[in-house]
Amino acid sequence: MMKLPGVLMFLLVLGTAESACNSTCSTFCDCSNHGLTSVPRDLPTNITRLDLQHNQITTVGQLDFSRYRSLITLDLGYNRISTIGSQAFYQLSNLTKLRVSSNSLRNLTASMFTGLANVQEMIFYKNDISDIQTGTFNPTPLLIRLLVHRNKLTSLKSGMFSGLENLQELWVNDNEITNIQTGTFNSTSELRILSLSQNKLATLRSDMFTDLKGLKYLYLYDNDITSIHAGAFSSTSQLGILHLYNNHIQSIPSNLLSNLLQLSDLKLSYNNLTDFPFEQLSNVQTISTLKLDNNKMTTLPSLAYDILSSISDVNIDNNPWQCDCRMVDFKLKITESSPFENRITCSQPDNLSGLKLKDIKLENLFLGCLEPKIVRFERSGNVKLLQGANILEQVVCEATGIPTPTITVIPPAGLNTTAESNGIVTVEENSNVIIQNIIAADAGLYGCIASSPIGSTFAVLSTEVVNPVSPPRFTLPVFAGSVSGAVAGTIAIGAIILAIWCRARAKTRFVALSTESDVDLTTVTQL
Ligand SMILES: *[C@@H]1O[C@H](CO)[C@@H](O)[C@H](O)[C@H]1NC(C)=O
Ligand SMILES: *[C@@H]1O[C@H](CO)[C@@H](O)[C@H](O)[C@H]1NC(C)=O
Ligand SMILES: *[C@@H]1O[C@H](CO)[C@@H](O)[C@H](O)[C@H]1NC(C)=O
Ligand SMILES: *[C@@H]1O[C@H](CO)[C@@H](O)[C@H](O)[C@H]1NC(C)=O
Ligand SMILES: *[C@@H]1O[C@H](CO)[C@@H](O)[C@H](O)[C@H]1NC(C)=O
Ligand SMILES: *[C@@H]1O[C@H](CO)[C@@H](O)[C@H](O)[C@H]1NC(C)=O
Ligand SMILES: *[C@@H]1O[C@H](CO)[C@@H](O)[C@H](O)[C@H]1NC(C)=O
Ligand SMILES: *[C@@H]1O[C@H](CO)[C@@H](O)[C@H](O)[C@H]1NC(C)=O
Repeated sequence: MMKLPGVLMFLLVLGTAESACNSTCSTFCDCSNHGLTSVPRDLPTNITRLDLQHNQITTVGQLDFSRYRSLITLDLGYNRISTIGSQAFYQLSNLTKLRVSSNSLRNLTASMFTGLANVQEMIFYKNDISDIQTGTFNPTPLLIRLLVHRNKLTSLKSGMFSGLENLQELWVNDNEITNIQTGTFNSTSELRILSLSQNKLATLRSDMFTDLKGLKYLYLYDNDITSIHAGAFSSTSQLGILHLYNNHIQSIPSNLLSNLLQLSDLKLSYNNLTDFPFEQLSNVQTISTLKLDNNKMTTLPSLAYDILSSISDVNIDNNPWQCDCRMVDFKLKITESSPFENRITCSQPDNLSGLKLKDIKLENLFLGCLEPKIVRFERSGNVKLLQGANILEQVVCEATGIPTPTITVIPPAGLNTTAESNGIVTVEENSNVIIQNIIAADAGLYGCIASSPIGSTFAVLSTEVVNPVSPPRFTLPVFAGSVSGAVAGTIAIGAIILAIWCRARAKTRFVALSTESDVDLTTVTQL
């Protein structure tokens, strides 16, 4: 107890000595909040730490720091610095940490950092930086952490980070980045952490992250990402944390995640995913967090149960689950041993809406499905003259069923007929398939296949295209009798349809519900 005042005294003495901003400070000069408009010139020249935060300094130049050559840490945060003169830090070869956050810098150039050969951390967050010139970091090869978040960068360019061979952390979040050029990271292969969150990226190309072979943390949340190209993460095989939440991602391309064998934390909440490829996580043993809540997912295959139940932290809440026959396999696996199983609430069909999947009887899941049926397969009546000789016309195939069947339209004489006529094939929201802009070469037999997990069906349509130069005129199409080409076409289409149909059949577990008699062979006559 007697010692306490002594300790306090010591701390007080030390405190005053360290907090001085004049010739009496030793080692550390605390010049923060001193109303300074320039860097003081009367401090001991051998100081190693200088704090100049919260002043009104606007410019730093070469003479400001040339006397303080022993500096190891320099903090210029919360000033009004808009200009760092050429070679301002030229003498500071021992500096390891430079902080210029919350200032008014508009660009970074190589001449600013000449001499900082040993700097390991540079902090520039909350400036107005819109440009980092090629070669800016050539003088700072030992940099480990670079913080440029909360600035105005609009793109990351090749050469921007050249020279940073030892960089491990790059924080460029909260900028306005719309593009990352190929090769941007080609000299920063040691990078472990890359934060690109809160930017305006729309597409993740397959060549964006190719150089980041050691990347462990990749933050991409709060962007405008709608599309991820296959192979976007094919080089970043060390990735452990991947945060993609709050974007507009609609689908995950095949094999995107399969090679991420170190993945532990994947967040895809608040996107537009209608489906998640659980099979891509089959070989990922390390995953402990998976967030897929607030998406547009409708169904969960059996494999999803195996994957989800092996992950400790799962969230799949707030998805529009369709509790129909597709969920039967998943439902059969429910043991209520993991919290996620109790939180799957049905959105469709209407009479099961609001109920939990775990509480629904198996037979009621089957009632939610309807076999696919082709209800319309015809040429539309609207005939318009389009750009010269092309006739705009449509072949429409419409099918019903629950779940919504996928529709495939097979044009006559193979696929390049469609390509030649600009073959616009659209799948409308009501699942109509439309082929527009049909020309003479497209005449012949069209096939339409509608398939779903509970079955498939097909129909055939014979068409004849009007000669663009003569007035629109429709003749009675003849199904098999017209020309031998049509017969050959029928056989070819039949073969294709059969092949596809058999494949669809083989995939489904509910094939017993689908019978041969479902198959419609329709020939439509246009008058
Ligand atoms: C240096 O600063 C300290 C703390 O602000 C103050 O007590 C001291 O008088 C100053 N000394 C000189 C020489 O200005
Ligand atoms: C700094 O220089 C002053 C006098 O020039 C000396 O008293 C002091 O010990 C030096 N401090 C260090 C850390 O070298
Ligand atoms: C820089 O650091 C080294 C190693 O600590 C030291 O020997 C040298 O004197 C320092 N340079 C200056 C200008 O203080
Ligand atoms: C960098 O910014 C300074 C001050 O804002 C400006 O004078 C200079 O022209 C800029 N340089 C480049 C290359 O944009
Ligand atoms: C990085 O990319 C730039 C631009 O594409 C190229 O000039 C440079 O040679 C590349 N560097 C390496 C190390 O591949
Ligand atoms: C999701 O996709 C739909 C249709 O593709 C689109 O209308 C909607 O704006 C998207 N929502 C988000 C959050 O991206
Ligand atoms: C739900 O509605 C469908 C279609 O109207 C009906 O076939 C089915 O029996 C209903 N299911 C239940 C559980 O009421
Ligand atoms: C269709 O493709 C084949 C082979 O790819 C080609 O020989 C033929 O010319 C193409 N037909 C048309 C009309 O372009």
